[in-house]
Amino acid sequence: MSLAESKPPGPPPLRTTEPGIMLRSEVLSSDRDAVRRIITSSGFFHDFEVDVAVELVDDRLARGDRSDYRFVFLERAGSVAGYACYGPIACTVGSFDLYWIAVDAVVRGTGLGRALLAEVERRIDGSGGRNIYIETSSRPLYEPTRAFYQRCGYRLEARLSGFYAPDDDKLIYVKTLPVG
Ligand SMILES: CC(C)(COP(=O)(O)OP(=O)(O)OC[C@H]1O[C@@H](n2cnc3c(N)ncnc32)[C@H](O)[C@@H]1OP(=O)(O)O)[C@@H](O)C(=O)NCCC(=O)NCCS
Repeated sequence: MSLAESKPPGPPPLRTTEPGIMLRSEVLSSDRDAVRRIITSSGFFHDFEVDVAVELVDDRLARGDRSDYRFVFLERAGSVAGYACYGPIACTVGSFDLYWIAVDAVVRGTGLGRALLAEVERRIDGSGGRNIYIETSSRPLYEPTRAFYQRCGYRLEARLSGFYAPDDDKLIYVKTLPVG
């Protein structure tokens, strides 16, 4: 475990029912390629967005626990099949952003995204976090992503009309973790 969790650990590590699934928070140099592959597999992120996702991995690799970016990688049959990136929001008490979550297109819809998000929530809870925020677009392309967030218990908290483009709003979802 390479992440500095500031509070006592939360519940025991998540157990997935499928054998051969492993969740880890350590970031390896090989994760640069894995993140690029997984994000690209979605087919709807621009190249510059893929580059930004890899830059967050680089930040973690270079700065270790001093990085603001924390990760959970999900390995299936020895290969990275999905990952999430999150971190504390500066100047808040217990608020975290989920920056990225993505599952390899060939294994989507099999519960891996939910497992990743549950592990992120467990780790944030263990760090004393209270609120988890997710920003996304109102474009139809992101409808499945929005459905995923809602199925995982996130509520639509705010809409910034025309934020990304005249017909593309920013939607902010939030989950408040239960106390205790
Ligand atoms: C969003 C994403 C991470 C979800 O991961 P996933 O492994 O496919 O999702 P799961 O199989 O764990 O599904 C969890 C729940 O979300 C729902 N869900 C997932 N994909 C859905 C879709 N396309 N349409 C409707 N609901 C969906 C599932 O029905 C499931 O609900 P249930 O357990 O109550 O039945 C994945 O589809 C992905 O990588 N998308 C492209 C990248 C992206 O949009 N990332 C977010 C922005 S950074």
